[in-house]
Amino acid sequence: MYQKRSDLYYTFLAGLTSSLILIISFSTDQQQTHKETLRNSVLNSTLPNSLLGGLPVREVIQKGHYTALSVCAYEDDHTRDVISREFSPGSEGRRLVLYGGVGMGKTTAVEKVIWDWTTGARLQRYALLMRVPVWELAALGEKAESLQNMLGCIHTHISTETLAVALQRPQSLLLVLDGLERLQNLLCTPLSSSSLICDVQQEASGSVLLCSLLHGSLLAEASVLITSREPVESLRCFEVVGFSQTQRRTFFQQFFDDRGQAERLFRQCEQALGVYEQCFRPAFCWTLCNVFKTNFENKNTPSETLTHLLSVITHMLLQKQKMHAEQTRVLVSSLGKLTNPVCSCSDVTSCGLRSFLHNPMLSAFLGINGDLTHPDTTFSFLSPVMHEFLLAASFYLDQSVQEISDKRSDLYYTFLAGLSDSIQRKPIEDSMGKVDESRISAFSQWLMGNVSRVLPDGDATKHFRVFRLLQHARNSSLVKESISKSQWRPVWYSSMQEPDCAALSYVVSCMGEMEHMNLYRAELTDEHVERLIPALRLSKSIGLSQSRLSLTAITNLSTALAEGRTITLDLSHSTLKKDSVKTLCHALMRSTLESLNLCGCSLTTADCEALAQMLSGGSRLRVLNLCGNNLEDQGLIHLSSALENCRLQEINLDLCSLTVASMPALSSALNSSFSELRKLSLSRNAVMDDGIELISRVLQKGRLNTLNVSDCELTGSCCSSLAAALQSENCRLTELDLSVNDLGQSGAMQICEVLMTPKCTLEILEMSRCELTKEVFRALGSILTSGVSKLVSLSVGLNDVGETAAKHIWEALRHKHCKLQHLDLEMLSLTDACVEELCESVAASSTLSTLILKNNIMTDSSVPRLVKLMLDRPLMTELK
Ligand SMILES: *[C@@H]1O[C@H](CO)[C@@H](O)[C@H](O)[C@H]1NC(C)=O
Ligand SMILES: *[C@@H]1O[C@H](CO)[C@@H](O)[C@H](O)[C@H]1NC(C)=O
Ligand SMILES: *[C@@H]1O[C@H](CO)[C@@H](O)[C@H](O)[C@H]1NC(C)=O
Ligand SMILES: *[C@@H]1O[C@H](CO)[C@@H](O)[C@H](O)[C@H]1NC(C)=O
Ligand SMILES: *[C@@H]1O[C@H](CO)[C@@H](O)[C@H](O)[C@H]1NC(C)=O
Ligand SMILES: *[C@@H]1O[C@H](CO)[C@@H](O)[C@H](O)[C@H]1NC(C)=O
Repeated sequence: MYQKRSDLYYTFLAGLTSSLILIISFSTDQQQTHKETLRNSVLNSTLPNSLLGGLPVREVIQKGHYTALSVCAYEDDHTRDVISREFSPGSEGRRLVLYGGVGMGKTTAVEKVIWDWTTGARLQRYALLMRVPVWELAALGEKAESLQNMLGCIHTHISTETLAVALQRPQSLLLVLDGLERLQNLLCTPLSSSSLICDVQQEASGSVLLCSLLHGSLLAEASVLITSREPVESLRCFEVVGFSQTQRRTFFQQFFDDRGQAERLFRQCEQALGVYEQCFRPAFCWTLCNVFKTNFENKNTPSETLTHLLSVITHMLLQKQKMHAEQTRVLVSSLGKLTNPVCSCSDVTSCGLRSFLHNPMLSAFLGINGDLTHPDTTFSFLSPVMHEFLLAASFYLDQSVQEISDKRSDLYYTFLAGLSDSIQRKPIEDSMGKVDESRISAFSQWLMGNVSRVLPDGDATKHFRVFRLLQHARNSSLVKESISKSQWRPVWYSSMQEPDCAALSYVVSCMGEMEHMNLYRAELTDEHVERLIPALRLSKSIGLSQSRLSLTAITNLSTALAEGRTITLDLSHSTLKKDSVKTLCHALMRSTLESLNLCGCSLTTADCEALAQMLSGGSRLRVLNLCGNNLEDQGLIHLSSALENCRLQEINLDLCSLTVASMPALSSALNSSFSELRKLSLSRNAVMDDGIELISRVLQKGRLNTLNVSDCELTGSCCSSLAAALQSENCRLTELDLSVNDLGQSGAMQICEVLMTPKCTLEILEMSRCELTKEVFRALGSILTSGVSKLVSLSVGLNDVGETAAKHIWEALRHKHCKLQHLDLEMLSLTDACVEELCESVAASSTLSTLILKNNIMTDSSVPRLVKLMLDRPLMTELK
């Protein structure tokens, strides 16, 4: 605390001293005059008087309506005022560059700084703030002049002596250089460091003065604030990124006196197609506010798209001067030929604008930098958005433009697409007459070609680009035609922006359905999900595994499911908030969903109540995967009450922390004549022998055909009840997984005996790692050749029996009664010695197509024989 206070104290003292010394020679009167002159210059600073020119500084100052801008790298920073912070004590000699494009509010920000200094609101540690004369420097060329003289020229109210003294104390001096881009030609001149100067009275060329100032040899200790379109190498640069959403809202509120109206128009603007993406530009926001105001006053309907909005703006600008349609057409199509944002006099005349040079219409679109009579005068587009619009409009207005280049900006294509829609281009057609139909179809052909080249590609970003264009064109038959002619490759749509979601929804809505929406691991905000609702409703299958969804997002997803036609939903391993399952289940009672994967979603016992209610509440769900959730017995007891009477056919309860305690409830549900359950997995739960006995008793009654009880802590003792069930009259079990249980010889032999009876329906049997013995393998061999068994798939890996026992199995393959298609002999200590025989047996089988031999102790020398087997036997599809 004390330390801090004393720091501040010294800072204060230091500031005081430097101001004091200056005031000795810089009288209060002079300072007041200087401040007043600066204030006038701020109020008089002229921005182009055009709808596109941005909010006049005078208005900002007089109404007190300054909206701070966001500056990059400081987004998470709570210091809002970067300039004060960067020019805090200790920063003497700093050159600070604020850079950003046209209309980003750099000048307004700088004028505000000047104003604040003159009114005592900011940066008071500087005794003197002066503008660097940009025009004068630019005009200097090779003539020599001293910086002191140049500063004196534009600050005539400061006496030469005062200025000279002030420049001797550069640490209390702040210089402002607005618009470094205008000095581009000075920066281009190559200079050696030896030509830099350090004396403010020394005369030098424009480039030397500028470079000496920027690189700190001249007025080394003065602070300099610079604005520029581009960052400047080796200086401290901050990008001006324009308005955040909050800043935009403030701007709207300040523009319109009526808060309600401001909010309404703000929303309208954020929702209009393509407008939101341009709203970070402060000048554009100002244009928008003006247009909305005029529209509102004239009771016009608001624009729904960016293209329409630009058409309206163009129409408004053109209307001001009463021109013939033909003249208007020439003006717009000529402007649209200027491809560079800044053009020379000759560019402007050569594209057909000579007759407009003295027409005020031209300055509605272009800023004119300099005197029209001077050949060095340049012209720059006031709004980059309008520039792209004019480029696109000229494609439609000028028949001589043949090809659509693929090297333009996204915005250009957006406008091309928008203008193909007659409603969006109507305002400009009102000013300059109809667009030729052949241009419209030329664009449609181009777009269809682009879609058919982009959609078969796996790059989601490219997909979104064409979806957005289709959305801007607003022609659903164009969407249908172009997409049905293309191979739309199912792509993983992960990193989407809100407009992408909306574009995808638009396209899917036009198509009427989507096969699979793959949003695996997508980072979806609430806004994303809301925008995706139309697409989600029409997706047959939705993949959302490993996603993070808020409750609001789940609510919106649920709406889509309840109203839509989704059959399959995968939410496995997603992070779900409390009450998500409840919300989802509520919607599923009314939905078409048939398969739901909630594997690894941290579900609890309470969620099972919601699931049970959904299942018995009329849902059409047939498949439910709950594996890897800590449901516990109480959870399964809740579910069982629903299983007695619902449409569920498959349930996966793998690894759900169940024990024998929930088996009576499950068994009684399976015994119900209304249960439709066919497939049940209880693997990796402590079902134990008692539990499997309860299940076995109802196997003859239920409809179960697949049972997975692998790794359920079973022993040989449960095998007698299982065997009894398997040979009962009505048992329908065809698939049984008993792996990873200590069945041992006696238990397994009981199963083998059943397999020899004709009543046994088992086709798939897994007994990997079941402590099987040689005896069991011999028995299995006889079963396979008996002609009675229906087994087509057998897994007996990870049993410590050795090669000779395993031989019983592969020898059976040669037998004509053996129907095996799949055989798993993993980790049976098989060696190279048996490979020849094994391969011969496989070759003799008429059915085997997959063989698993992994984790055995064969070496590379067996590889050629195995390869030969695969080559000789087309039936083999897999060999591990
Ligand atoms: C600047 O503004 C002041 C008052 O605000 C006015 O008297 C003066 O004429 C203006 N100067 C110019 C060059 O417009
Ligand atoms: C499709 O159009 C975009 C412009 O939106 C262009 O950049 C791209 O090169 C085109 N792709 C193909 C394959 O034609
Ligand atoms: C929509 O696109 C189709 C296919 O290109 C075209 O035939 C039709 O004229 C367009 N409809 C409208 C209203 O522009
Ligand atoms: C999405 O959820 C939010 C919050 O629950 C709700 O306000 C909004 O209306 C929902 N949108 C749709 C389309 O259901
Ligand atoms: C199965 O249900 C029948 C009545 O349908 C009943 O007699 C029998 O005891 C039940 N069995 C079990 C194991 O619950
Ligand atoms: C049985 O469940 C285990 C554990 O989830 C799994 O690895 C195995 O593949 C399942 N068995 C069958 C036949 O699907």
